[in-house]
Amino acid sequence: MPTASASIRIIDTPEQMHSLSGEIRSSGRRLGLVPTMGALHEGHLSLMRLARAQCDVVAASIFVNPLQFGPNEDFDKYPRTFESDCHKLEAEKVSLLFAPTTEAMYPPGAKTFVEVGEISDRLDGRSRAGHFRGVATVVTKLFTIVQPDVAFFGQKDAAQVAIIQRLVRDLNLDVRIVVAPIVRESDGLAMSSRNAYLSPQERKQAPVLYRALMRVQKLADQGERNTAKLIASGKAVIAEEPGVRLDYFEIVDPQTLQGVSDLRSGALVAVAAYVGTTRLIDNVLLSGGGEVRTSLR
Ligand code: PAF
Repeated sequence: MPTASASIRIIDTPEQMHSLSGEIRSSGRRLGLVPTMGALHEGHLSLMRLARAQCDVVAASIFVNPLQFGPNEDFDKYPRTFESDCHKLEAEKVSLLFAPTTEAMYPPGAKTFVEVGEISDRLDGRSRAGHFRGVATVVTKLFTIVQPDVAFFGQKDAAQVAIIQRLVRDLNLDVRIVVAPIVRESDGLAMSSRNAYLSPQERKQAPVLYRALMRVQKLADQGERNTAKLIASGKAVIAEEPGVRLDYFEIVDPQTLQGVSDLRSGALVAVAAYVGTTRLIDNVLLSGGGEVRTSLR
């Protein structure tokens, strides 16, 4: 792992991080955490800015968590850009970076996992078995180690957000969750570290996810309330793009991730599709919820 650069302090053991965050909290400063897997893009940086605006000290974490990748997923090829990530964090004046090794996070024999129940089997959880168990376990560990007052997540991972909010509620974790809006490229494609996998041809196809969501939003704005019709219209847009294979297109309650049959305020329209071999996700909250959601405990 590269050495620390001038203005960001890099901490690689849970013990050091825990004691440092204890000092920060006992000095009365408000500590914000932005958990990431690195390969930072504007979406992540918008979270850093939000954290800086709301907290006295901002810690980011970079850890490509093996537990949330399935056996045939992209753990090995997931982009790892530590040096440039550090420069971006410095530019955002993030002062602490927790970047542990896999062995430090999961010592030999680690067999304790966090399961959030059936919500983990909805949306991405249906096609990525065990993914949300991996997310819930690592996020619980990060919260325990870093002890943030506030933690920041992106709305792009809407199912992850619902699971983390449930986890925090069910385990009475002492952290406030702030959710920031999706950051998009100029053609609507949601920013994602996985966009780096797309060939130039696939990159041109990828905004179809956003176009499908916008079709649904437009029909809903025009008064369509039947979710089966709305879903069919979104799927039809995806089908227009050869080379894009739909995983799911659903309209769900954003807290429970259960399908809704009649449109209600704040319903989440969520899509996942393979563009070539790259699985992308995107979503939009239909009017009523607003895009920025903050859990109130
Ligand atoms: O959203 C991500 O990057 C990851 O799922 C998270 C929250 C950092 C946990 O590994």
